[in-house]
Amino acid sequence: MPTNEPLNRKLRMALIGGGRGSFIGRVHATAAVLDNRCALVAGALSSDPQRAKDSAEDYDISPDRAYTSYQELIEKELALPEDQRIDFVSVATPNHTHFEIAKAAAEAGFNVICDKPMTFDFAQAEELAKVVEESGVVFAVSHNYTGYPLIRQARQMIADGELGEIMAIRSTYIQGWLVDKLEDSDQKQAAWRTDPKKSGAAGCFGDIATHAYNLGRYVTGLLPEQISCHLKTFVDGRALDDYGHAMVTYENGAFGTVTASQITHGRENDVTLEVDGTKGSLSWRQENPNEMWVRKNGSPHQLYTRDPNAPFTKPVAAESCRLPSGHPEAFFEAFANIYRSAFDNMCLRISGKNFEKKDTIFPNVFDGVEGMYFIQQSVASSQDGGKWLPMKHDLARR
Ligand SMILES: NC(=O)c1ccc[n+]([C@@H]2O[C@H](COP(=O)([O-])OP(=O)(O)OC[C@H]3O[C@@H](n4cnc5c(N)ncnc54)[C@H](O)[C@@H]3O)[C@@H](O)[C@H]2O)c1
Repeated sequence: MPTNEPLNRKLRMALIGGGRGSFIGRVHATAAVLDNRCALVAGALSSDPQRAKDSAEDYDISPDRAYTSYQELIEKELALPEDQRIDFVSVATPNHTHFEIAKAAAEAGFNVICDKPMTFDFAQAEELAKVVEESGVVFAVSHNYTGYPLIRQARQMIADGELGEIMAIRSTYIQGWLVDKLEDSDQKQAAWRTDPKKSGAAGCFGDIATHAYNLGRYVTGLLPEQISCHLKTFVDGRALDDYGHAMVTYENGAFGTVTASQITHGRENDVTLEVDGTKGSLSWRQENPNEMWVRKNGSPHQLYTRDPNAPFTKPVAAESCRLPSGHPEAFFEAFANIYRSAFDNMCLRISGKNFEKKDTIFPNVFDGVEGMYFIQQSVASSQDGGKWLPMKHDLARR
């Protein structure tokens, strides 16, 4: 079990968002404490002040640290003695609020775990990256699928050359929950996700294609060159896309495709990744995350399972497991692995030690910038009939 060395105390967390009736805030709170390395001590849990206060008891946050806004949270936490003050904030609010909250937290010196997409638009993302660099805080973006042990196994196998030169990446994120116009009902999650003022320039592509794109980038480490995209809104009267395809070319000549849907009947959270290399191919599916196929022509197909003790398991994948093989690990554990790796860096930073800023095992602010560039260029390409646009930028993780 990893520890909080060299800090040797629990980290103190504040949650922003996650009020009653919301979705991902509870996941953050659960994932953060899974390894007993942090305690949730403060929150600004809702945009509604009374609900923010009322929701605090659901998390055992004491009333005096249940704040009614993130501004109040930052101001009052900064006023506390250092040995009580929070160490980091987790941002689990709708997209249009991420930038102002994450920026204010980083400027106040608090480490940040921010949900995706990192900001509302690309300009905000670039600015946030500057703030993070200047402040020196640890900043993670919860592209949580990168926390699955077999995804980290795939990443290491590719880095070790086991698949040869990468020729193609196919990633998909297929859902069906928005095939009906849920935004016309009381469904809050559907309402803000389909509202351009809250979601950003893209709907489905911002919400879920960003995960699929990030997964391919994370696993292969290939640098993107160009993108061509077609987005479509199938549900009448919806303001943003609910389906789309993008093709991405990579600097080494590889082809990538990203397909995302929120209108496919019966599909839930079907995130898939397939990578073709000159020596072998692999495929993985998040709805069955403890298995990954690796295939080589002329050899029997190999089914890798999540097994921390197997000789074929790379150390980085073994260290991302909590249970022996056969006991299913899934969404919470993968999410907790983002926290676990970010905590390692937070403990170093708070103890005054150096820590890795760019090539972290967890998705960081640079991945967040890239996600926002992906959204911007996808929308622009689609509006121009699928025109090829650049995907290279200076802040890309290398
Ligand atoms: N990583 C993932 O797998 C994943 C999954 C779902 C959602 N998300 C992302 O998480 C974010 C939240 O999504 P959700 O589905 O939980 O939304 P939600 O609508 O269920 O919850 C949002 C919460 O934020 C609160 N809120 C809004 N503005 C606030 C503010 N200024 N200060 C404090 N609280 C505020 C709301 O009151 C609510 O409690 C989005 O950015 C979404 O893209 C990520």
